[in-house]
Amino acid sequence: MSSIRNKYFELKKINNKYVNENAIKQILMSVNNIDTDFSLLSRFDEECINEELIDKYIEELKNGKSLQYILNKAYFLNEEFYVNSNVLIPRNETEELTKLTINKIKEIYNRQNVQIFDVCCGSGCIGISLKKAFLDSDVYLSDISPLALEVATKNKDKLNVDVTLLEGDMLSPFIAKALKADVIVCNPPYIPSIDTVEESTLIYEPHLALFASPSTYFYEQLFKDAPKVLNKLGLICLEIGEDMEESLTLLVNKYFSKAVYNFYKDIYDKTRFLIIIRDER
Ligand SMILES: C[S@@+](CC[C@H](N)C(=O)[O-])C[C@H]1O[C@@H](n2cnc3c(N)ncnc32)[C@H](O)[C@@H]1O
Repeated sequence: MSSIRNKYFELKKINNKYVNENAIKQILMSVNNIDTDFSLLSRFDEECINEELIDKYIEELKNGKSLQYILNKAYFLNEEFYVNSNVLIPRNETEELTKLTINKIKEIYNRQNVQIFDVCCGSGCIGISLKKAFLDSDVYLSDISPLALEVATKNKDKLNVDVTLLEGDMLSPFIAKALKADVIVCNPPYIPSIDTVEESTLIYEPHLALFASPSTYFYEQLFKDAPKVLNKLGLICLEIGEDMEESLTLLVNKYFSKAVYNFYKDIYDKTRFLIIIRDER
């Protein structure tokens, strides 16, 4: 039996690119049921519990598995979401998309009760965060993967939000139920080839969440059907790949010739978001 201090210094000696100080602390804290860095330090001389589990987690980390998958949790806009290998780990860009969507909804609709579809919801991070921002809104989350929807359902319960989950291909479950949206938000798969993806992503993240051929495939599916579900004043908020501005401009002009649209950059100055405002009033 060793103390948390001894275990910490033992793990610090490991020379592996994935085993960094933050990961070691997060694993020690999670297994020892400690909430904060500060509490970890104050409990350094206590006995370290379940060293076997810690060693198992460290082995997984060494093999490139993300900490979020190991600990089954990921933070998104300050909320803790449950994640497993059936969903993408929520990314920082997607937090940016969600904030942009919140601002656009406030700018365009002078009301709280908007009808929102989060298509390709994965863990549910976007839709659940939008529901928290607009409590009077009706939020629907959809995905083609029943396993992803299980994770989204877990997050709905964990974060105590009233959202509706639907299974199906892009907008088809909404069309089948004749549901209407003010806002469609979507972060679809858009990576065209495995060559551009980091090895750990390729091994551990669901390929259904990553790849599309051509990269614009799911955007075109969404654009084709969006007029069937959008209300007269409709907003479409999308995360996109950094080299997709040109190809998506062609598609927007093809499907929404009268709409106003803008591309937005992320904090790294890469064009990563597309917002379309379709006004048919
Ligand atoms: C890039 S992930 C986004 C997940 C989540 N919205 C996020 O931003 O973290 C794409 C999601 O699309 C789902 N998906 C793939 N093909 C789909 C389709 N044809 N219709 C609906 N969802 C699909 C995948 O299961 C995956 O959860």
